Amino acid sequence: MELIDALRTTGAVRAFTDEPVPDEVVHRLLDTARFAPNGGNRQAWKVVVVRDPDRKRAVRDAYLPGWYQYLAMAAAGLTPWAPVTDLEAERSALAGAGEQAAAAAAGPGGFAEHLDEVPVLLVLLADLRRLAAVDRDFDRYTLAGGASIYPFAWSILLAARAEGLAGVMTTMATRHEPEVLAALGVPEHFALAAVLAVGRPVHQPTRLRREPVASFATVDAFDGPPL
Ligand SMILES: Cc1cc2nc3c(=O)[nH]c(=O)nc-3n(C[C@H](O)[C@H](O)[C@H](O)COP(=O)(O)O)c2cc1C
Repeated sequence: MELIDALRTTGAVRAFTDEPVPDEVVHRLLDTARFAPNGGNRQAWKVVVVRDPDRKRAVRDAYLPGWYQYLAMAAAGLTPWAPVTDLEAERSALAGAGEQAAAAAAGPGGFAEHLDEVPVLLVLLADLRRLAAVDRDFDRYTLAGGASIYPFAWSILLAARAEGLAGVMTTMATRHEPEVLAALGVPEHFALAAVLAVGRPVHQPTRLRREPVASFATVDAFDGPPL
């Protein structure tokens, strides 16, 4: 498919058929994604392709607490875990996470509760010894290091689209990073960057809701005229 079309229409997919995604297909995705840009070309990514049911369940179990916290904060009108936020409002919202978990337990469960049933989970790790994190020493929240991993993650999802596959990037399991690292035998100098859920989509959403360029791009200064 056309590159521009793919960039404009590749939505997150969280529902998959039972069709397996064989190793050779995952290999093709990674073989394409490895050309992603990254700081200093250090290629600090590692990928654990998780198929084993116990390990998939361990990833799901690490995902769920953060998911319920996310729902509670979103329900309170917050941007969950925004580095700059109203911490008091966040604390009070988090009290609702238990209710979110109970409501989920009473129902059939969604993507999060069934994460272990996704055809394949790609756990993306960042080698902190090779990550060019130029804002490492700032007092504010550091951001630049992830930029060496997430283009790679996005390239995997675009490559999946080209195969008729689909998926979603998730970061919720990072709330319980130590458990994921332990379950997969990952050394401590790695960070959990994302878990990609990948499979054959039940439906591929292509009409995405995004703000127009003029809402986020200005000329010459932050308060300059909209582009
Ligand atoms: C860095 C990042 C973290 C994300 N984390 C999660 C996640 O933990 N769980 C999830 O279901 N979706 C997650 N998403 C998917 C977003 O919810 C999705 O990209 C966004 O809502 C836009 O959806 P759309 O492309 O279908 O319009 C994440 C996406 C990114 C880029």
